[in-house]
Amino acid sequence: DYDIAHVFIVLGASGDLATKKIYPTLWWLYRDQLLPKKIFFIGYARSNLTVDDIKKKTHKYLKVSNDQTKLLESFFNVNYYIQGNYDDKDGFEQLDKKIKELDMCSHRIFYFALPPTVYKSVSSLIHLHCRAAGLTRIIVEKPFGRDLESYKDLSKHLSGIFTEEETYRIDHYLGKEMVQNLMVLRFANRIFSTVWNRDNVACVTISFKEPFGTQGRGGYFDNFGIIRDVMQNHLIQILSLVSMEKPVSLKADDIRNEKVKVLKCVRELKLENVVLGQYEGDPDGEGEMKEGYRDDPTVPNDSITSTFALAVLYINNERWDGIPFILRCGKALNERKAEVRLQFRDVPGSIFTTPNVIHRNELVFRVQPGEAVYMKLMSKEPGMLFDCHQTELDFTYGSKYVGIDLPDAYERLILDVVCGNQINFVRSDELYEAWRIFTPVLNEIEKQKIKPIPYRFGSRGPKEADELAAKNNFIYSG
Ligand code: BG6
Repeated sequence: DYDIAHVFIVLGASGDLATKKIYPTLWWLYRDQLLPKKIFFIGYARSNLTVDDIKKKTHKYLKVSNDQTKLLESFFNVNYYIQGNYDDKDGFEQLDKKIKELDMCSHRIFYFALPPTVYKSVSSLIHLHCRAAGLTRIIVEKPFGRDLESYKDLSKHLSGIFTEEETYRIDHYLGKEMVQNLMVLRFANRIFSTVWNRDNVACVTISFKEPFGTQGRGGYFDNFGIIRDVMQNHLIQILSLVSMEKPVSLKADDIRNEKVKVLKCVRELKLENVVLGQYEGDPDGEGEMKEGYRDDPTVPNDSITSTFALAVLYINNERWDGIPFILRCGKALNERKAEVRLQFRDVPGSIFTTPNVIHRNELVFRVQPGEAVYMKLMSKEPGMLFDCHQTELDFTYGSKYVGIDLPDAYERLILDVVCGNQINFVRSDELYEAWRIFTPVLNEIEKQKIKPIPYRFGSRGPKEADELAAKNNFIYSG
């Protein structure tokens, strides 16, 4: 298909996502000559813009080196912009006309960098006015619904007009290097497969921490909260890759069948297994004023939306029954980190007595920053004495693969769409399960108007979260 012309349409071209992520990604793919030779880009949005405005707006995110200015010119020479609404046909007819002008038989890829409120009308208008001889693919961003009901409604609408093969539900965590490595590490290493079960694992934690707040996205965020923003999608996707059985093959549907199978075994989250938090300002955070969530002018003063959540999930199957999967995510915390941590059970019948303290083995997959896999284990202190200490087997990408640039998640995923590879995209039944797990608790939180526990900007989050994790067999090792 690389010989066929492609037109990539960015819907919502004036927005934050398009500016910070989509345009830069398209430029990097173009710069590295990874896209079909005959490629055109069309931005579509309501604002009155020109390609030149887009060039200026995106510039600081494009990372252009001095020797690339000519190439950048040629990139923007194949960029176009169309102003139009999201709910009337004129704009979409114009868009179709433009695509045909560029190439009569091109493949068309539509990226929905849009608020979910317009998904329905935009998808219908594309279907009615922008379909043509070539392939059509749509890329939809989260949030895909707000709960199980709205998910079903949107899904019914989309699947009525686009096939599953045409629909790419993006979860950019699936494009991250370490998340991609999970399947290889698990299924290409005998040493891991034998301990990957309830007999050996004490608990699994999957964490996402950010050291900054909602950063001007408060308006969007307040409608969704951290469970919908991060946990229901990114963390659940990681959970499914960590806990699923070995797929029959690496075909997209074989992998997704296994993910769905394990997600079906995840019990609905219960309210008693959740701790919610909301960050407060810190007048002297790292020497400067750090504003609280509700100080954001786009957030209502009395908002009870959570910016932090810890949830404990259980998987009701033979491999994992009774083992807590602790999901933790939050904004405005003490560090940036995303990782998966397996803590193993204690060694039975230990022969090591005081002063030796035997710590659990841990296996950690650090997704970011600084991809790494490391394992905590006990070893003899070198020297004359016979004391034990905890040490690490360390496989850090930065020292192993010196000078290798890892592709950005969006780069890899957009390329997958061009190639028609759905491995790293979320199938509709996966998403159904993800909403099934969280919807009852989300409804309950809203119904009871549960107030999140305040935590200071830059802290570890509410101490109640650490307490719930400890109750679920997690030992904090600092
Ligand atoms: C997005 C969330 O999906 O992921 C954001 O909406 C979050 O709130 C972001 O900041 C994190 O992505 P990354 O790749 O920076 O870890």
